[in-house]
Amino acid sequence: MANIRVEPDWRLPERLATPASTFLNRRQLLAGLGLGSLALGASGCSYPERSALAADRSRLTEPALGSRFADLFPAGRNDAYEVGGRPETAEEKAASYNNFYEFTTDKERVWELAQGYQVDPWSIEVSGLVKKPRTLDLDDLFTRFPLEERLYRFRCVERWAMQVPWTGFPLRKLIEHLEPLGSATHVRFVSVLDKQGLPGQSVYAWYPWPYFEGLRMDEAMHDLAFVVLGAYGHALPMQNGAPWRLAVPWKYGYKGPKSVVAIEFVDQEPATFWNQSTPSEYGFYSNVNPDQPHPRWSQARERDIGTDESRPTLLYNGYAPQVGDLYTGREF
Ligand code: MTE
Repeated sequence: MANIRVEPDWRLPERLATPASTFLNRRQLLAGLGLGSLALGASGCSYPERSALAADRSRLTEPALGSRFADLFPAGRNDAYEVGGRPETAEEKAASYNNFYEFTTDKERVWELAQGYQVDPWSIEVSGLVKKPRTLDLDDLFTRFPLEERLYRFRCVERWAMQVPWTGFPLRKLIEHLEPLGSATHVRFVSVLDKQGLPGQSVYAWYPWPYFEGLRMDEAMHDLAFVVLGAYGHALPMQNGAPWRLAVPWKYGYKGPKSVVAIEFVDQEPATFWNQSTPSEYGFYSNVNPDQPHPRWSQARERDIGTDESRPTLLYNGYAPQVGDLYTGREF
């Protein structure tokens, strides 16, 4: 009995872990190709022990870009965005409890494995249905648009939630600058692929790396969809998705891809990483909805990772007045 570890109800047993069916299909596929031992080898990869890592707790919140662009922070807070009296989550918490499977599925170790990952230089390929395909660099991203700080609610599909002051600018501004063609109905985002530097991309080899996500064009153009360059008054630490990620606060957190390297405008609903991995559990829209349970758990309540408070989940994560008009109610 003494060894039984009672987890809080929100610490789900690996919600994102591959269901056995997916894993077995992958194993069968590799076995069929005569690569069974490779599959075992990959899934048998292990991470360095905590003590063997050079990670330094005093650098927990340090920007992955070091002092580059430091003069742009902190940006002024835009008070039009508030979170209904909820407290801002402690920075230490938001920086040490993460989902970033490219590093590890262990939320409390992401920051350790991410520390020191190089994101400068960084380029972003813009392609598809756009007037002029091009490559953006960090200067394009950080210096072209005025930055502001917005306190947003954040809700993970696993039922944990927080309130984070993100720094950035509306995604709409970037999209307008890129000039998509009228035929573009959706935009997709692709995160970095780096099998050498990102251990999760080998250890969890059954996932369709790199991470990819997408939005309908009207969602992407909505004022709340935010290009995030920083948090808590400075550029992002690696574990939160440096050098940039998206925040789409009325959707589950996985709709906010981190460390994005490609933007593509398309004319049909794009596949997404989670929908492709586990279609029965993760839809394209993934709007926060207390009445739409995940197949393996209720979404009616959530737990604040800062205060540990349990509270009811809000429709569209509390942003229904702003985004309700985008949906007919059937988008999951
Ligand atoms: N982006 C990439 N590239 N890889 C990931 O594993 N996880 C998603 C999202 N973006 C993820 C990602 C999930 S499931 C969540 S809840 C949020 O990032 C977590 O963001 P945070 O760690 O900054 O809180």
